[in-house]
Amino acid sequence: MEPTLDEFLKNPKPYANNSYVTEPGWKSLYVRRTSRYTNGKFRHLVIDLANIESETPGGGAFRRLVTRLRRDYPKWTIYVESVLGDQFREGLRRMGFHQAGDDFCPSFYLAPEDSWHPRKK
Ligand SMILES: CC(C)(COP(=O)(O)OP(=O)(O)OC[C@H]1O[C@@H](n2cnc3c(N)ncnc32)[C@H](O)[C@@H]1OP(=O)(O)O)[C@@H](O)C(=O)NCCC(=O)NCCS
Repeated sequence: MEPTLDEFLKNPKPYANNSYVTEPGWKSLYVRRTSRYTNGKFRHLVIDLANIESETPGGGAFRRLVTRLRRDYPKWTIYVESVLGDQFREGLRRMGFHQAGDDFCPSFYLAPEDSWHPRKK
């Protein structure tokens, strides 16, 4: 059975460093616990979000997820891997994420010290 997101992040031992996890509002949420070098800084605590699909696109699940991660896991960098669609890319920029990688297949991250803009303007 898939762990919940909290089980995965709070109790790493029983799980591998990557897993599909369950989280309200998400049809598919594949996460990875890793370290990364982003914009000149090494980050020890990084959660990768990959292969993600919300139950109701546009329903706010992503904003709720990031708000929760920032509140409950404030030391973690949130890294959204390989964002292909323009709509999501633009939204990530509005929310305060930085681009990592080239324009062809960019990823986006929000570091602990970055400002987070959860409200829709
Ligand atoms: C992209 C996705 C994961 C975002 O989650 P969400 O819960 O819909 O996001 P929210 O409602 O919190 O909105 C956050 C941003 O997501 C993006 N978004 C919202 N609805 C979207 C849709 N139907 N398609 C693509 N991106 C969408 C927008 O950039 C939005 O920011 P904005 O409101 O400033 O425009 C979700 O829309 C989805 O599953 N889309 C289909 C699959 C997909 O594109 N996965 C991404 C792989 S990288």
